[in-house]
Amino acid sequence: MPEGRCNGEQKPERRPGPPPLLDVRDLSKSVPGPRRLFRHLDLTINAGELVAIVGESGVGKSTLLNILAGLDDADGGSVVIDGVELGSLDETARTRVRRERIGFVFQAFHILPYLTLRQNVALPLALVSPDAAAADRRADAMLDAVGLEGRGDGYARDLSGGELQRVAIARALVHRPALILADEPTGNLDPATAARVLALFAEAVRGNGSAGVMVTHSETSAAIADRVLTLGADGLVERRD
Ligand SMILES: Nc1ncnc2c1ncn2[C@@H]1O[C@H](COP(=O)(O)OP(=O)(O)O)[C@@H](O)[C@H]1O
Ligand SMILES: [Mg+2]
Repeated sequence: MPEGRCNGEQKPERRPGPPPLLDVRDLSKSVPGPRRLFRHLDLTINAGELVAIVGESGVGKSTLLNILAGLDDADGGSVVIDGVELGSLDETARTRVRRERIGFVFQAFHILPYLTLRQNVALPLALVSPDAAAADRRADAMLDAVGLEGRGDGYARDLSGGELQRVAIARALVHRPALILADEPTGNLDPATAARVLALFAEAVRGNGSAGVMVTHSETSAAIADRVLTLGADGLVERRD
């Protein structure tokens, strides 16, 4: 149950509260050709909240995540992460925000083939902290948490799709980012592993007070979220069922 609800006949207090971790306003995006992806898209996510985004293939879910991560530009609108508007930053500052405050599970994983799995997972920490030994220890703990105990010295070429996906998830969570973005994070996992990874995901969001956005086709994944939003041409619509 969320905290801060009203008790009995008292009306809920309208205190200003902490600002949302993610605040997206009036976002629009077109791609070359006749197709417009979305417009008037608003999205507000508070600390500790996990949101699932569903929608038909090609509707722009991955594009939206890329925009939230500052990896793609919107045509209009604003994205504010933890009080910082992405559009106001130059490329160096944007890269810093991405490194320090964002964890991204890419649909295609992007595990670097020439680094060990431990090095891959430790990378987000190594980029922001000089303590390499601590980064390695935390990376090993994250590999344990996704069920890849003792695999830190291995390489991506030795892994199945499902194992690569778990490395990608460990890497996205290792630095306890403020904003966690995941593009179909359980798409390659068997049901038991998917459940385990989803629990880890939800725990990272709620335990660290992060904002989580998960694109998914899976009802199990959507069920663990606080809200399920459907992406369409006119932005995000909350699904109530
Ligand atoms: N840079 C781009 N140039 C042209 N078309 C693009 C570009 N990025 C995405 N698209 C198109 O936009 C649509 C939405 O893509 P995507 O965000 O990957 O959808 P989803 O993740 O919902 O399946 C697709 O039709 C895709 O081909
Ligand atoms: Mg996609």
